[in-house]
Amino acid sequence: MTLRQKIEQRQAKVGIIGLGYVGLPLAVEFAKAGFDVTGFDVDGSKVEQINAGRSYIGDVKAEDVADNVRAGRLRATADMSKLADMDAVDICVPTPLRKTKDPDMSFVVSAAEEIAKYIHPGMLIVLESTTYPGTTAEVLQPMFEAKGLKVGEDFCLAFSPERVDPANEHYTTRNTPKVVGGTTPVCSEVAAALYAAAVDTVVPVSSTQVAEMVKLLENTFRAVNIGLVNEIALMSNRMGIDVWEVIDAAKTKPFGFMPFYPGPGLGGHCIPIDPFYLSWKARQSGFECRFIELAGHVNGSMPGFVVDRISEALNSQKKAINGARIHLFGVAYKKDVNDLRESPALDIIELLHRRGAALSYTDPYVPELHHGELCLKTVPEDQVGDVDCAVICTNHRVFDYAAMPERFPLIVDTRNALKGKSGDHIFRL
Ligand SMILES: NC(=O)c1ccc[n+]([C@@H]2O[C@H](COP(=O)([O-])OP(=O)(O)OC[C@H]3O[C@@H](n4cnc5c(N)ncnc54)[C@H](O)[C@@H]3O)[C@@H](O)[C@H]2O)c1
Repeated sequence: MTLRQKIEQRQAKVGIIGLGYVGLPLAVEFAKAGFDVTGFDVDGSKVEQINAGRSYIGDVKAEDVADNVRAGRLRATADMSKLADMDAVDICVPTPLRKTKDPDMSFVVSAAEEIAKYIHPGMLIVLESTTYPGTTAEVLQPMFEAKGLKVGEDFCLAFSPERVDPANEHYTTRNTPKVVGGTTPVCSEVAAALYAAAVDTVVPVSSTQVAEMVKLLENTFRAVNIGLVNEIALMSNRMGIDVWEVIDAAKTKPFGFMPFYPGPGLGGHCIPIDPFYLSWKARQSGFECRFIELAGHVNGSMPGFVVDRISEALNSQKKAINGARIHLFGVAYKKDVNDLRESPALDIIELLHRRGAALSYTDPYVPELHHGELCLKTVPEDQVGDVDCAVICTNHRVFDYAAMPERFPLIVDTRNALKGKSGDHIFRL
């Protein structure tokens, strides 16, 4: 039976390498579509939790994991030799940046090394991790062809960028269109057939390089527009104009404008990182990505600006940051998630700590926070005691914003969470 037939009849065995924010929802979606799915992860605790029918990702319902595990359609393992049984394998491992802002491909390479050990004729391999254009062709293809198999003839290779938006209640893995680009037309067709079985819309493109670039365009678009609106916020602050009111009015234009909002800085595993994959690769072709670098510069300056606002706020009451009790509401990088990666709150915490502030925080999604020498635990919202300044960093829906203006002597609101509330003690971005 060919892989196409196995996919059509839901006989294909699907392996997902990396069971994080991207891999676990995908594994569950393939299992719900009727495939036999094995998740591979080096993290034993994730493997254990899946096999026990539990979910550790907010967007994945525990009952979806439990039902599929019980039905025998989903399991997890750290034993990579099981890759030999797979017909299709998706790579969903991290692609962070090194300190030098160069791509760290070590996770992708180590996952590919494991696949290369067990690759067999008829296998489909798809890279989902966000990466620079050329990775699939330049890094993965030679590793697999070194095993004596020819891409497009003996095995298929494709890139399909993940578009997960954590905590988005409307767009999920199932109903977010999936871009797919194969190394050869056959690779594209087979990969598109696999995804078409599990997601509503597949968008085929002509090559893996185009598919890789699509993801980087999407994330660079966000990084640059957020950088632009952050600069407008800094400018408006200097000019005494309320940037939030400006955006609210501008977005009434029914065409040619899309609202982006200022904030304390970029966070998460994508927007602050991915554009630098693109600028790194472009530099190798002698091309300087000016927009990306500039947006990175503006966005990277936001935590410092927030600290300046905190200093201004304290100054208005003849206080200094040194010794002030400063409490942060929300440390996750965006609302309603537990993801701390690259969160600007961590930069703000570090800057305030260095200036001698006594710090505490409330984030129901983040029970503990370890950053440098700091080790903090969330304080339940109703137990936050006397503080000199409250700082709203993440606007989780669970917070009781209506009560805050009365409760705290000073508030720095970086997210317009106190929309419509004003007073000498409220400082906005
Ligand atoms: N989180 C998002 O919102 C998002 C959205 C779109 C794209 N992406 C991209 O998807 C990729 C994965 O991101 P994520 O957020 O799911 O990461 P994650 O850290 O949540 O999950 C990655 C998982 O891979 C596992 N892993 C690492 N090396 C491994 C290996 N060699 N073998 C097996 N397992 C291994 C880790 O233990 C972890 O469980 C990244 O390239 C990211 O840029 C993420």
